[in-house]
Amino acid sequence: MDTIKTDQQVRRTEIKSILESGEVGATVLVKGWVRAFRANRFIALNDGSTFNNLQIVVDFENFDEELLKSISFHSCISIKGQLLESQGKGQKYEILAEEIELLGGSNPDDYKLQPKKQTMEYLREQAHFRMRTNTFSAVFRIRHAVAFAINKYFHDRGYYYLHTPIITGSDAEGAGEMFRVTTLEPNGAPLNEAGEVDYQQDFFGKATNLTVSGQLQAEIGALALGKVYTFGPTFRAENSNTSRHLAEFWMIEPEVAFADIYDDMDLAEDFSKYLINFILENYPDDLAFLDKRIQDMEKQMKKEDRRPMGLLDTLRFVVENDFERITYTEAVNLVRNSKPYKKGRFKFELEWGMDLQSEHERWLVEKKFMKPVIVRDYPKDIKAFYMRMNEDDKTVAAMDVLFPGIGEVIGGSQREERLDVLKARMAQMDIHEDELDWYLDLRKFGGCPHAGFGLGFERMVLFITGMSNIRDVIAFPRTPGNAEF
Ligand code: 4AD
Ligand code: MG
Repeated sequence: MDTIKTDQQVRRTEIKSILESGEVGATVLVKGWVRAFRANRFIALNDGSTFNNLQIVVDFENFDEELLKSISFHSCISIKGQLLESQGKGQKYEILAEEIELLGGSNPDDYKLQPKKQTMEYLREQAHFRMRTNTFSAVFRIRHAVAFAINKYFHDRGYYYLHTPIITGSDAEGAGEMFRVTTLEPNGAPLNEAGEVDYQQDFFGKATNLTVSGQLQAEIGALALGKVYTFGPTFRAENSNTSRHLAEFWMIEPEVAFADIYDDMDLAEDFSKYLINFILENYPDDLAFLDKRIQDMEKQMKKEDRRPMGLLDTLRFVVENDFERITYTEAVNLVRNSKPYKKGRFKFELEWGMDLQSEHERWLVEKKFMKPVIVRDYPKDIKAFYMRMNEDDKTVAAMDVLFPGIGEVIGGSQREERLDVLKARMAQMDIHEDELDWYLDLRKFGGCPHAGFGLGFERMVLFITGMSNIRDVIAFPRTPGNAEF
C-alpha cells in the first residue's frame, strides 16, 4: 500500500503540549485535521487542543504522489517525524514528516466548503465543518472554560450544585411560554368530562412541560443547604427571533438563604467579573484571535456601527470598574430626559410602569454610563409573582444586570418569604395555590429571607467571545423553525 504504517510504539502527543514543552530532536506522533496544505510542502495541522496549528514540513520526494494528492483541506491525518526548531516565521516548532497516514479523506470534489471566509448563517448548516473553523473552535473552547469557571467559583465558595428537574409540572416564571411534555397522541388523546385533554391519563398523571427555570426548586435547596446553584438546560417557547434568544439555552441560578437584594447584586457583579477574568487569564490566544476577527470585520463597517472598544479592552474595562447601580424609576427618568428620547430617536415610548425596551437598556449601558448597569426595584406588574414586595407596595426587589452590546444578562430578585403577601400576589396574578402548594410550604416551615438570580449562559459567552449572534455560541442552536441535527 501507499501509506506507511505509523509505529504504534510512539505515543500520540497533543499539539498543545508540543507547543508548550516540546523537545527539539524528539520523534513525535501527532494526529489532527489539515487547516492548510501550502506549496505541496507545508501542512498546518490542528487537533483542537489549542488555537495554534503545528507546521508539518513534507519533502515530497519521500512520499507517494497519490498519498500527497489525497491530503486536502479538512483531511484527517497522522504524522510521525522529528520535532525541529522552525526556520519559518510565526511558529517555534515544526515537524519534518517521516511517516504520513491518511486517517480520513476529505474529497475536494464534493467539497462544499472552500478555505475562505464563510457566512455565519451558512456555517450553522454545516455542523461538521463549523466547529473546525478558527472562530468556532475558539468559541467552544471558551464556552467550556466559562462552564468550568462557574463550577469552580461556586465550589470554592461553599455552594452546592443542585440538579433541578428538566421535566416539571410548574411554570416558574408564570409567563406560560412552555413546551408541553406528553406521551398522549395529538389525535385521539383522552378527554375529560369538560371535553379537555385528560392529563390524568398522561405519563405523569398530570400536565407537564420542559422547565423554564430551576429557581423554585433551588429555593428548597437553599433553605436546607444554605447556598446552592443550578446549571442546566432551560426551555422557552417564546417566538423571539432575535440575536439574543434561544428556545433552548443554559441557565445558572444561585440561590442563597439569608441574602437580600443587595447581597444578590454584589454576588452578580463579583461572579460576572470572575468569569470574564478567568477567560482573560487562561485563554489569551483564543481571545486575541476573536479580538482581531472583530477588528477586521469592523474595517468594512461604517464608523458609527463599530464598537466603541475592542474585545479585550471591553472585557478588561468590565472587570476593572464598578457596575453602575440605579433604580428602575431613575432609569425611566434618565431615558425620558435624554437627548435621543426628546428628539424622538427611540422607537418605543417609555413611561413609569412599562418595561424598558432593549434600545433604552442599551442607551443606559452604552451611552449614559458606558459600563454594566444594575437596575433594581421594578414595578410589580411587569415582574414575576415570587419577587419580594417593597414597602412602597408598587415595586418589587428585582434586579437586572445589563451588559454592553447585549442588554439583560442576569435577572434576579429577593424572594417573597411572607406567606400572606405571596398568597395575595398569586391571587392577583391568577396563579392557583394548589399548583404550587409545595412552594408555599417552604414559607410555612422555616422560611427566611433569601435571594438569587439567573445568568443566561449563552449571553455571557456571547459577551466574552464578542460574537454577534447567540446562535453562534451554542453548538446546535434551537430557535423558532429550527431544530437541525
Ligand atoms: O430573567 P429570567 O427570565 O429569570 C428567571 O428565569 C429567574 N427564575 C432567574 C432567577 O432569579 N433564578 O432569565 C434569566 C436569564 C436572563 O437574564 C437571560 O440572560 C437568560 O436567562 N435568558 C435567555 N437566554 C437566551 N434565550 C432566551 N430565550 C432567554 N430567556 C432568558
Ligand atoms: Mg428577566
